[in-house]
Amino acid sequence: MLLLGIETSCDDTATAVVRDGRHVLADVSTNQDAFHAKYGGIVPEIASRRHASLLSAAVEDALARAGVPLGALDGIAVTAGPGLIGSLVVGVATAKALAFASEKPLYAVNHLHGHIFAAFLEREIEPPYPFLALLVSGGHSQLVEVTGPAAMRILGKTRDDAAGEAFDKTARLLDLPFPGGPALEALARDGDAHAVPFPRYRPAAGALDLSFSGLKTSARYFLASDAGRAARRADVAASFQAAIVDMLIDRVERALAAGSFRALVLSGGVAANVALADGFRAVATAHGLPAYVPERRFCTDNAAMIAAAADIGAAARVDPRTLTADPSLPF
Ligand code: KG4
Ligand code: ZN
Repeated sequence: MLLLGIETSCDDTATAVVRDGRHVLADVSTNQDAFHAKYGGIVPEIASRRHASLLSAAVEDALARAGVPLGALDGIAVTAGPGLIGSLVVGVATAKALAFASEKPLYAVNHLHGHIFAAFLEREIEPPYPFLALLVSGGHSQLVEVTGPAAMRILGKTRDDAAGEAFDKTARLLDLPFPGGPALEALARDGDAHAVPFPRYRPAAGALDLSFSGLKTSARYFLASDAGRAARRADVAASFQAAIVDMLIDRVERALAAGSFRALVLSGGVAANVALADGFRAVATAHGLPAYVPERRFCTDNAAMIAAAADIGAAARVDPRTLTADPSLPF
């Protein structure tokens, strides 16, 4: 199948053309960071207005780069939720119009399912069910048991902030530019991960839930203290990153002890973090399992993963006259 993917759930205006759920013929993304940076976070109204002005050109660009006319597509896959409502609506309305006008099938994709199947882009393998996915993005952090393309169960998730959100908020305390995750990772590179003993949330034995708010608060108090003001910022960043990675890896270990899986998948924007990806691969190796981590460009929001999820069977075919965006679409 040859699918056009459209993703506008947050602040990336993204389109892609993907063959058979894995070969990416074109991958277009207009990042809006420059427009949101001065506010220190994403401004929903700005995001939706940028999507409205950029998306038509992004669709044409993806088709032109792939050398595929609209008529040659087998369908259109669009993110229907969860996300920012004003942003989702632009992608959904555009996809509906394109599908209706070209009489092509329309697939409504859950953004989070897209992240999970991003791991199989540009790979010559079928998803090895059942697998364990650690999905860590700016809005979600959860462990998922995936037994089939449309059979996924959340085993544990965060009680408060998402991992990406924790990175972003602490990066702000460190006066780093937005988005904070990549900036904090860069700063952590020449820091000592053992310099500051930040707390790690540990739920009762066997539980798989996560929590990052205690760590975030601890980082805030530490930075405001005398010791914090005297500390090297790189050491604080490295210690904070190590605490997040430790908690995530601990929950993966617990999930592996409780279940039976054929592979591990790491996905979502935070999967771009090298310390996390390295720790994740080490756990997989220790358990004799393959680890699939998306290429960096497919970790953060992109449209290729949306087309991939639809092709793999994780999305329902919908009526282009009635599809509506759902900002809180359940997993
Ligand atoms: O998946 P994503 O692009 O958007 C959502 O669906 O949320 O994830 C964005 C999140 C942001 O919080 C960003 O700071 C974080 O992923 N992130 C990172 C890194 N790259 C992106 N966090 C830590 N290290 C990174 N290298
Ligand atoms: Zn995302």
